Amino acid sequence: MLRTRFCVANWKMNFNCTDTKSFLESWNNKELNNKEVKTIFCPSFTELNTGVEILQYSDSEIGAQNVFYESNGAYTGEVSCSMLKNIGCQWVIIGHSERRSIFSETNEMVRNKLDQLISERMNPIVCIGETKTQRENGKTQEILSQQLSIAFENQEDINLKNTIIAYEPVWAIGTGITATVEMVSDAHKSIRNIFNNNGFNGSNISILYGGSVTDGNATELSELTDVDGFLVGGASLDVDKFYAIYNQL
Ligand code: PGA
Repeated sequence: MLRTRFCVANWKMNFNCTDTKSFLESWNNKELNNKEVKTIFCPSFTELNTGVEILQYSDSEIGAQNVFYESNGAYTGEVSCSMLKNIGCQWVIIGHSERRSIFSETNEMVRNKLDQLISERMNPIVCIGETKTQRENGKTQEILSQQLSIAFENQEDINLKNTIIAYEPVWAIGTGITATVEMVSDAHKSIRNIFNNNGFNGSNISILYGGSVTDGNATELSELTDVDGFLVGGASLDVDKFYAIYNQL
């Protein structure tokens, strides 16, 4: 199975409706000649509808930055998979390190979210990654293995073609410090091995790198065999920079 390549924009808590419209309208004027690469924009919940509408005739798609794992009910402030699906949003980021560290999202919660996405036939973007201390203590592999094994335990129904893993070392997110090509290459290889050891075919899964990706470092990272694209935060807020990153994939 040939793996799909992805360029995903994580806008985090940036861009109101006006900003979203202006970004995506200029994106629609760009030539998307890199047909091998699928682009996905992840705005805030309030801008999802606008995004879906503006991109309806485009090859780019819309994703959410989070979801809750119950179908409906008394969960004030939460958003369900079916609500997202109903407005045409098929992709959802889960387990982002900011959700884990600021909002106490655990591996078990990530698994519950993944369960719900799979049962709704939606496409997950599962973020994993080690902290600086974990790396310094030689725990990177162990942490990645723990995060993936818990999230993917008993997920036989998953469609790997529409599943993304984003390897994002926590210390590289928003810091301007990118992981070296060796670190990224090693981590992506070990992620494929973790899948192989858990009963999946690791070579079928798209693994993106995230953490201070810019138009200046995208080429050397995209040349790595096991890198199937990027999850971009800061640099995705500038339409020309994001387009330049897309063109380097
Ligand atoms: P960054 O964010 O590109 O600003 O480091 C990446 C992410 O958090 O997904």
